[in-house]
Amino acid sequence: MLRPLALAIGLALASSGSSVIKCDTSIPVESFIKHKGSRDIWISIDNKVYDVSEFLRSHPGGAEAILKYAGRDASKAFKKQHVASILGLLPKSAYKGVLEGSLEEELSEEEILLEEMKKKKPALSHIFNANDFESVAKQILPKDIYTYFATGADDEATLRECAMAYSRVFFRPRVLQQVEDVDLSTNMLGCSTAFPFYITSFAGQAQLHPEGEKVLAKVADKNNIMFIIPRLATKPIPEILEEIDPQTPVWWQMSANHADPKLERAFAEVAKYDQIKGIFISTDSAVGGNREKDFKVRQQVTNATSELSGYAAIDKTYPSITWDDIKRYKTLTDKKIILKGIQCTEDVLKASELGLDGVVLSNHGGRQLDYSQPPLEVLVETMPILRQQQYYDKEKFQVFVDGGIRRGTDIVKAIALGASGVGMGKAFAFPLATYGEEGAQRLVDLLKMELSRDLKLLGVSKISQLNESYVNTKGLYNRIGNYADSYFRNYEKLPAPVFIK
Ligand SMILES: Cc1cc2nc3c(=O)[nH]c(=O)nc-3n(C[C@H](O)[C@H](O)[C@H](O)COP(=O)(O)O)c2cc1C
Ligand SMILES: *[C@@H]1O[C@H](CO)[C@@H](O)[C@H](O)[C@H]1NC(C)=O
Ligand SMILES: *[C@@H]1O[C@H](CO)[C@@H](O)[C@H](O)[C@H]1NC(C)=O
Repeated sequence: MLRPLALAIGLALASSGSSVIKCDTSIPVESFIKHKGSRDIWISIDNKVYDVSEFLRSHPGGAEAILKYAGRDASKAFKKQHVASILGLLPKSAYKGVLEGSLEEELSEEEILLEEMKKKKPALSHIFNANDFESVAKQILPKDIYTYFATGADDEATLRECAMAYSRVFFRPRVLQQVEDVDLSTNMLGCSTAFPFYITSFAGQAQLHPEGEKVLAKVADKNNIMFIIPRLATKPIPEILEEIDPQTPVWWQMSANHADPKLERAFAEVAKYDQIKGIFISTDSAVGGNREKDFKVRQQVTNATSELSGYAAIDKTYPSITWDDIKRYKTLTDKKIILKGIQCTEDVLKASELGLDGVVLSNHGGRQLDYSQPPLEVLVETMPILRQQQYYDKEKFQVFVDGGIRRGTDIVKAIALGASGVGMGKAFAFPLATYGEEGAQRLVDLLKMELSRDLKLLGVSKISQLNESYVNTKGLYNRIGNYADSYFRNYEKLPAPVFIK
């Protein structure tokens, strides 16, 4: 059982077998709860006690996320974010023993309030677009969890501009075309799909729904939508695959922030699943982005004043991977390889020269380098140059975009400008968080309606007819004007530092 679990986060489990403790110490609850000082922090997960005082500082999710549970039961929060096997990566000395007695489950004021809000949430039929789901999520998710999903890097210029770029492109419809039926199907990476959008990989789905990645996997399969399993999945890969017809192609995203030998082993393991047709390698995360809003809100939630609060650690354990590593990965598998997180024309050309299968123009939805250009701008700059390359074959090398896509019109604009498909992350995260499977299905239905209507009004009956002549991009670089009202209804500015109470 350990093997597939480990695989889900792409970590080989060399260490976990050896962390089995032969003789457990009992720790009475009364003494456990005392370990909540600033340098002495114990937490309990499934009645096992861990001393995380040291580990805190290097926790990829930041110290705050753990501090909140000092001297408390962290099981629920831990499971929302991790697969169980990751505990094997803690140093052996962190394990203190088994908790004796039981901790009372205390609901916080916030939790009580959120339960009330959940009972009053709008009927699904009152949800009309992707941004409506986010408005509901803001009211029923714990503030720190909502913020983790909604945040961008630094001042969030890229986060906002990813979405706003779409609002600067306008249409040039052809009227009187007598379009009867609209066909929304298309081909991505050699596989036919029902829609020109796909559900992209994003970490921590169990924070939004107890079934984690299984929910969106199921909805994707039912609707013939391309689905990417994230490396930081909260469910093991075999469990996610159970939700998907064995004949349906699936994709896997691998994080590539270090030339980690374990990562290479995970890569080889995933290559064994026939159903996984290709690997999206994230290239935009040499280090984690500076998710300042996320840290600030977590400080507020925990009232933290210690010097520990704040930033997630910069991982210096391994060097960043390079183009040479990509060449090596290519020799390790026959599956398709797509580079995700490409942010300029030069790198698109490099990827296509290497004979890879495609790129995703993406900046991680604005979560990595702030002021990285909106992917739509990169697309507009790149496609004319790419098409001039002698080796370029649009069947063999596809360009995708993600970031800020919320509406059917956003999708149509990207396709008209040369994208083979668009990825959607947060747009699917919030229906998952608010209405689960039914919510995600509603979003698919709404997008289907929007796309069908948009194409009819444009005078187009199928995706392959879309081209540059249907859009006007002259306003693209005028970075003023916020037309997308429903997007800005949800946007929250970074909070100011808080005075000590
Ligand atoms: C909460 C969250 C976690 C994410 N985690 C990952 C990840 O682990 N790996 C990755 O390649 N991209 C990750 N992404 C980026 C998405 O794959 C995608 O690029 C981005 O969400 C697109 O922007 P959108 O959310 O506006 O659609 C994450 C995005 C979010 C919102
Ligand atoms: C933070 O402080 C506020 C106001 O004093 C209080 O209501 C809240 O319970 C505190 N939160 C925590 C996690 O201690
Ligand atoms: C774009 O589509 C229009 C309308 O179908 C067509 O007339 C035109 O030739 C196409 N342009 C290109 C570059 O394919």
